[in-house]
Amino acid sequence: MKLEQLSITQLEERQLQLEKQYDAYKSAGLSLDLTRGKPGAEQLDLSNSLDGILQGFYLLQDGTDVRNYGGLTGIAEARELGGLFMDLPAKEVMVGGNSSLTLMYNYIHFMMESVWLKESKSNNETIKFLCPVPGYDRHFTICDAFNIEMIPVNMLDDGPDMDHIEKLLAQDASIKGIWCVPKYSNPTGTTYSAEVVERFAKLPTIAGDHFKIMWDNAYAVHHLNDQPDQLSNLMDAAREADTAESVIMFASTSKVTFAGSGISFIGLSEDNLKAFEKFLSASAIGPDKVNQLRHVRFLVDADGIQAHMRKHKDIIGPRFDMVDNVLNQHLGNRGIADWTKPMGGYFVSLNTLPGLASTVIKMAGDVGVKLTPAGATFPNGDDPRNQNIRIAPTFPSMEALRQALEVFVVCLELASIQQLLKR
Ligand SMILES: Cc1ncc(COP(=O)(O)O)c(C=O)c1O
Repeated sequence: MKLEQLSITQLEERQLQLEKQYDAYKSAGLSLDLTRGKPGAEQLDLSNSLDGILQGFYLLQDGTDVRNYGGLTGIAEARELGGLFMDLPAKEVMVGGNSSLTLMYNYIHFMMESVWLKESKSNNETIKFLCPVPGYDRHFTICDAFNIEMIPVNMLDDGPDMDHIEKLLAQDASIKGIWCVPKYSNPTGTTYSAEVVERFAKLPTIAGDHFKIMWDNAYAVHHLNDQPDQLSNLMDAAREADTAESVIMFASTSKVTFAGSGISFIGLSEDNLKAFEKFLSASAIGPDKVNQLRHVRFLVDADGIQAHMRKHKDIIGPRFDMVDNVLNQHLGNRGIADWTKPMGGYFVSLNTLPGLASTVIKMAGDVGVKLTPAGATFPNGDDPRNQNIRIAPTFPSMEALRQALEVFVVCLELASIQQLLKR
């Protein structure tokens, strides 16, 4: 039954029950954490054979010794591998170090230095970026680091609100880019539809050549389901629309092998790649090619990636099922929260009644259950409706996850009743 259909007396009775439960949690000395979107130890163990996999063979077919300096674009075999993640030919892939975020940061730095700053000075305009919300906080941190103003755009069921995006671009030439997590988006789990991808390919015809689509495909192969979502190839659509120069793709093996010791990929046109390579050459002689080769040997090909990711799914799938089951059991049909049931990726996105996210997060924190700070999924930490909460179920054990969720649902229902009773 929906909470708002309950009488005042019924609400007060339920409030008393929940307060008792909440008080019991206070004295339980809990220390649980639902904030960390990182793989658990069992997942990391899946890749332990990376260690020693080269068995002393460091030479590539072309004679390159991967232990030595050089090769800023990455070894050919790893570029092929990156092409499998991003659906691109190897010649359009550069392989970086252990973090795609670093590549994103460096790419924005490159655009600032080479084009955007000059443009903004001569037009006396602030550089702006579109940010689909809720979104990934570290994208926002990169914008912050470069004083790029962020404009939120709502996420819909099939991707960001394209009507709004097209309108904004037509009105404001100082918008220089957009962040996207096009598959199993962080945190909503949304995969952009084919129509949305087509519209993305045409955006630079409105926004101009210097507009960049930062296509962060961090969850390209991270399915939680045997029928994976299909994402259309933006680069192909952009080639058709003659806008390929605006497409900058990213992926990594952070949540495939070792989160701290994986390899990362950037996908871009050959001309863009050359220019970016030149920019990077001031700061590096070459990436960790030994690790690149280890990943090639370990993952091998598309079948190897798929088989490996199935093992991840078997470990984390039950955690996502548990989140959905506990939320459904306690909050289903109560009219006080809605949440996503993602087909892939690392997060569940939940909305409370408007105005309650920070209260729920504080209540949970006060009894030892840490949740991602309110507003973290919005630029400048500002969730205008104060209702989005990101749940990351992969890292805790099943038992810790169950306990944390049980506390969470009590906090959420209690906060909702308190709000209803105030009306
Ligand atoms: C959307 C998204 N992009 C990038 C990253 C980080 O990627 P990397 O480890 O390759 O820097 C994350 C990690 O949570 C993410 O959710």
